[in-house]
Amino acid sequence: MPPADDPRTRERLRLAARMDAIQPFHVMEIQRRAFELEAGGRRVIHMEIGQPDFPAPPPVVDAAIAALKREPMGYTDALGIRPLREAIARFYADRYGLTIAAERIMITAGASGAFLIAMGALIGPGDEVLMPDPCYPCNRHFVRMFEGDATTIPADAGGNYQLSLADVRRHWGARTRGVMLASPSNPTGTVVPLETLRAILAETEARSGFALVDEIYQGLTYDGAHLPTALGLSDRVFVVNSFSKYFCMTGWRLGWLVAPAEYVREIERLAQNAFICVSAPAQHAALAAFSPASIAILEERRAEFRRRRDFLVPALRSLGFSVPLMPQGAFYVYAGCERLAEDSEAFAWRVLEEAGVAITPGIDFGEHRARSHVRFAYTRSLADIEEGVERLARLLGRAR
Ligand SMILES: Cc1ncc(COP(=O)(O)O)c(C=O)c1O
Repeated sequence: MPPADDPRTRERLRLAARMDAIQPFHVMEIQRRAFELEAGGRRVIHMEIGQPDFPAPPPVVDAAIAALKREPMGYTDALGIRPLREAIARFYADRYGLTIAAERIMITAGASGAFLIAMGALIGPGDEVLMPDPCYPCNRHFVRMFEGDATTIPADAGGNYQLSLADVRRHWGARTRGVMLASPSNPTGTVVPLETLRAILAETEARSGFALVDEIYQGLTYDGAHLPTALGLSDRVFVVNSFSKYFCMTGWRLGWLVAPAEYVREIERLAQNAFICVSAPAQHAALAAFSPASIAILEERRAEFRRRRDFLVPALRSLGFSVPLMPQGAFYVYAGCERLAEDSEAFAWRVLEEAGVAITPGIDFGEHRARSHVRFAYTRSLADIEEGVERLARLLGRAR
């Protein structure tokens, strides 16, 4: 039987043509094999998984339990419970000094739900969206789900692995509708410099297009003050954020979308139809995510991620990986393995089988130089990361 992403499967199952373009995550295969090895008694160091190794802050868990006992937990408003939308607005005011009307903030099922709703509202058949390569793989799939096409633009270390204004101008065509950026990015951890972001937002507005900025890793930057949000640069930008990463709540499936005011009613209609509402218990729990007690815990964890990054990047460099830029945020290192292997996918398998370290091959994030890159997630304890590096050193025959 052909594999799920083979066009013959489409014919057999009478699937929609768009399914041909929806790729599986290769890392899931690596993870499945890692679990198999563990079931056989081997200890695997997991550096493939893009989720914090910390649970939700205890005040969030307590708030969830209290809310479950107190609230009937019926459907909520499609845009989310008002107190949570207001709490997010206050967070923008307190942390970034910005006034964002709670009316513009809608609660979604993770950043993923926000993407789905935004793309559903903005993309039609044949519309093109510009995005960097490498980038978060689901971006192009969300565009495809609405019959649009992703125009991926090669991005290298010289440009911070992000799009430049010149890229946007050069690649903007008759069918281009907008631009998707992530700052900091998955898989590279690099940010879009503020002036570049400002210029790209102005350019998309001048072209009557949209800009969607994924700020899911915004709370996780490591050098200096918190990264400013694109919301401070324009009130025409769409901003996606989530409780998954900084707030350590991946499985709670909660995020948000900030849209330009005049889109909110339209998006609300779509959200009503698609989801009715987002999980009520998760929404009530998330109210406690902004409490001083939770923020104090999350800031300690941010410092811990920074310690891990500061260990891992030089360690990988000393093993022969190329990491031309210090990632400014997220919890990933996108490392060139061109000096160590011919093909990053085969390399990731070898690293798993022979060293018991799980990493993600670059092909999950695009095509540009994907076969010479792998992604390391530092979502494990420093002790585990140190052991992972030791194992790699032994595999590669490098004394440390
Ligand atoms: C850049 C980026 N955007 C969005 C998401 C989706 O996150 P969630 O739906 O859990 O909020 C992820 C998840 O890894 C991501 O890395």
